[in-house]
Amino acid sequence: MRLVVVSNRVTIPDRHEKATAGGLAVALREALERHGGLWFGWSGVVGAARQLRETQRGNVTYAVTDLSEAERESYYLGFSNRALWPIMHYRLGLTEFQRSDYMGYLGVNRRFARELAGMIRPDDVIWIHDYHLIPLAAELRRRGVTNRIGYFHHIPWPSADTLTALPFSATLVRTLAAYDLVGVQTRLDARNLVDCLVMLCGAKFDGRRVRLGLRETAVRAFPIGIDVEAFRRLAAASVRQAATPLRATRESLGERKLVIGVDRLDYSKGIVQRLEAFGQFLRSHPEERGRVGLLQIAPPSRSDVPEYAELDRMSDEVAGRLNAQLGEFDWTPIRVVKKAYSRTALAGLYRSAQVGLVTPMRDGMNLVAKEYVAAQNPADPGVLVLSRFAGAAQQLGEALIVNPYDTHEVAEAIRTALAMPKSERIRRFEALYQIIEASGIHWWTRCYLEALAGEPVAAEDVEPPGKAGAKAETPARRAGARSARSTTRPAAQERGEARDASAGPGRKRASAAGEASHLTLVR
Ligand code: F6P
Repeated sequence: MRLVVVSNRVTIPDRHEKATAGGLAVALREALERHGGLWFGWSGVVGAARQLRETQRGNVTYAVTDLSEAERESYYLGFSNRALWPIMHYRLGLTEFQRSDYMGYLGVNRRFARELAGMIRPDDVIWIHDYHLIPLAAELRRRGVTNRIGYFHHIPWPSADTLTALPFSATLVRTLAAYDLVGVQTRLDARNLVDCLVMLCGAKFDGRRVRLGLRETAVRAFPIGIDVEAFRRLAAASVRQAATPLRATRESLGERKLVIGVDRLDYSKGIVQRLEAFGQFLRSHPEERGRVGLLQIAPPSRSDVPEYAELDRMSDEVAGRLNAQLGEFDWTPIRVVKKAYSRTALAGLYRSAQVGLVTPMRDGMNLVAKEYVAAQNPADPGVLVLSRFAGAAQQLGEALIVNPYDTHEVAEAIRTALAMPKSERIRRFEALYQIIEASGIHWWTRCYLEALAGEPVAAEDVEPPGKAGAKAETPARRAGARSARSTTRPAAQERGEARDASAGPGRKRASAAGEASHLTLVR
């Protein structure tokens, strides 16, 4: 089989890029290398020339196309990022729908399908990523492509009730039936997506698969992970390097403790609310003033979308106000840095921060949470404060789980994290580390591809509303167990996996928070 990956953006790797590229890109490239493959999508360039350009790297072909200005406006900025992005993150108030944007979105999907269809071979397995490309499989099917096609939705999938506010949502959801496998981050997302197919499109769900017309589609949660070992090594190496942002940061902090947040500048990440919570923490605990600082790294993102420009302005305003109100002549409580740093620099900064503050208002998974854990010094780890609305919270129940809408709760969690005894920090860190290590990025890629290749999907992976599934042996679980066994601490791995799969801390917390048990991820 040859693997064909399709994503909105495609970055063609430099020959020496591997050490700095993100985990997902590296894992997909490795899967492509293994099977021989094609990676297709937008070059990231806006231009008049829209011909396909092909570049060969090893046994992977990268085929990219530019977008026209009109396509970028309607498909990328418009429908993808002003309609789908906010509604999928439960932000109805920010959702802006324009028919012309929707037409542009369909148009780009149609064009991608036209260009891709000519390159597909009979034995190809096609893996499409992200919300920009939901209708792509339906367009490929219309052109006669009969290969197995999978979709992975990296962001949350909201309830049917929320999604119906989007005009044409039923038409869009119906196109999912063209896939053989739809993967999402959490069981809640899976259930919501099945509900949408059933309630908006009249699909039938038999507890295993969704049937719509002549098609059958499996829907299933695959929580994405990181390359834990690679990131751990990066963090350890970063601490040893001489001239790094880490050293400069440490020198500027002196004896003070560091709380860190790292996010794209996106309203879903809760950056403004986080700054306010840090301000609240300093107001509630004046004895901590001068002893700790918040470093928020927030590289700008999608700045042509008005809501992002507004967030840029607001975050400056809030940080400025809090610094003016709470700072001293020799201490600035909050530093917001709006630029991107290398992964090595970030890994080192995570390692030296006593608290990782990951408080999105809603997030598909949130890999910063996992990277923060991976980067810690096992002998003296920091504490992760994590939003219950990040998909990662369903796995990482040993973090301090908070409601990001509750400024006081987040402020108290910061206080608890800073005061936590070392023994408890180590206990929590070890539990978290086992989980992220047992469900890393390579495990994720392998599970997804096994399922896409047609290995049977067990009933509990797609639960009908109101029915929590039993845990049976599945190809993915077997793969997860294999992955766990092949790591450096096999016994601990398997203990961690077993605990996570039964009634681990994540499950307790989700239930205690009033959520159904299906919210708990078991891998
Ligand atoms: O998962 C959401 C996502 O679209 C990723 O695919 C992407 O890397 C990230 O957000 C940044 O988005 P953009 O490509 O719009 O800068």
